[in-house]
Amino acid sequence: METSWLQELQRNKKPDCEKLLDHLLQIHRDNPGFTEKYSTNCIDSSGKNTYQWLAEVIEREDHIEVLDLACGSGPLLSHCHDKFGGNLSLTGVDISKAELNLAEKRLPDTTTLIQAKAQNLEFIRDEEIDVVLCHWALTLMDPVGPVLKEISRVLRPGGTFAAIVDGDKSFSQEYEDVSELIYSWVGKAYQNYRKYELGDVRVRQKETLQELIGHYFREEDITIQQKLFSVFGTPAKLASNVANFFYASYALPENMKPSLLDDLQEYFKNNEKVLNHEFRMPINRLIVRG
Ligand SMILES: C[S@@+](CC[C@H](N)C(=O)[O-])C[C@H]1O[C@@H](n2cnc3c(N)ncnc32)[C@H](O)[C@@H]1O
Repeated sequence: METSWLQELQRNKKPDCEKLLDHLLQIHRDNPGFTEKYSTNCIDSSGKNTYQWLAEVIEREDHIEVLDLACGSGPLLSHCHDKFGGNLSLTGVDISKAELNLAEKRLPDTTTLIQAKAQNLEFIRDEEIDVVLCHWALTLMDPVGPVLKEISRVLRPGGTFAAIVDGDKSFSQEYEDVSELIYSWVGKAYQNYRKYELGDVRVRQKETLQELIGHYFREEDITIQQKLFSVFGTPAKLASNVANFFYASYALPENMKPSLLDDLQEYFKNNEKVLNHEFRMPINRLIVRG
């Protein structure tokens, strides 16, 4: 894969926001729906996945207008529709046409899907939305400030904003190990990959996220909950599932991918007894209730 974002890394320069979008768009154009494939099967101890966990913030009595920011292929909107039927008015926004095409196929005609950046939601009126949801995407957004500003503008007073974001790596040894392995491979192709990462790093840690959100919403309305979610499978299955979830794997040149998969499979084989066919991921749910 050749993107302007990766080219900038090779020049040892920090890629700008346009290059980030170009990079994300290419990955999603070539692999639409990849987040959903992983996340649907990533469950907590009660069997709930992260889409279901996020949608719990919707209150049947109180909420009608729901916006899914960076909706991707539409799994969250689809879950909301299944759970609440026609009682909700659903809107999805995403930059990727390839993802929106998948969303359009599965969602009822009443769903509004818009190709746009989360940084500019000018097509939504002030205080029009009851709930803004964002599943696995806030981490990618840079600049993230304008996104949070737009969310606070479109939310009605007393509305809810909730997002699924990365949890603290140190809560799962295998998550730390696997990230390290994937990043060490991508580091062989792009030395600076780790240095710049995707999106705004403040979203990736509870303390910095709390502070960031506090600039746009009242501190007392913010909660961040952490939970472990797992995928299960044989070493080979875990290796390919996990590799396909990390954006870094998509940056790896094609000829290096088989070696990454071999290393991941070896890791899961060697730890089969300890992990018992399970890979746990720490995940945070941010909730801002006005
Ligand atoms: C990891 S995927 C998550 C997709 C979906 N929410 C899910 O969980 O299945 C991230 C999504 O964010 C979208 N995205 C990234 N940056 C964006 C931005 N600034 N504005 C709107 N969408 C964005 C991508 O196109 C992609 O569909």
